[in-house]
Amino acid sequence: MYEKLISESLKAKRFSHSPYSKFRVGVALLTNKGKIYYGANVECSSYSLTICAERVAAVKAITDRQKKFKAVAISSDSSEFAFPCGACRQFLSEFSDNMDVILVKSKTKYQIYKLQNLFPHKFKLK
Ligand code: THU
Repeated sequence: MYEKLISESLKAKRFSHSPYSKFRVGVALLTNKGKIYYGANVECSSYSLTICAERVAAVKAITDRQKKFKAVAISSDSSEFAFPCGACRQFLSEFSDNMDVILVKSKTKYQIYKLQNLFPHKFKLK
């Protein structure tokens, strides 16, 4: 079902700017309208300014007026499944907390979670 999104996330790793950690993350974000946005982690010599791949893809979509997400596929250079960090879970849940989160090791090795299950009880201003 998510074959294309999975392979696109693997390709997106090539856009990573990660000279400090040498840890590439690639993301393919699918909107509810079927459009794919790409993201990769962008690091900075002032380390804490680094932006995760998930948030790069999300802000590209949002500023293209696409705020509803169906799924996000996340690839990395790790031999383990790379889960999105807490900040990215909160950020994605701002827009679509029912989305699928696909952790990708290879085209055939992946796991699918619901964002809600990875990030229950999100912070809300209410
Ligand atoms: N990173 C992501 O891109 N997404 C995450 O969810 C966690 C971590 C990046 C940030 C940094 O460039 C590298 O992985 C190592 O922490």
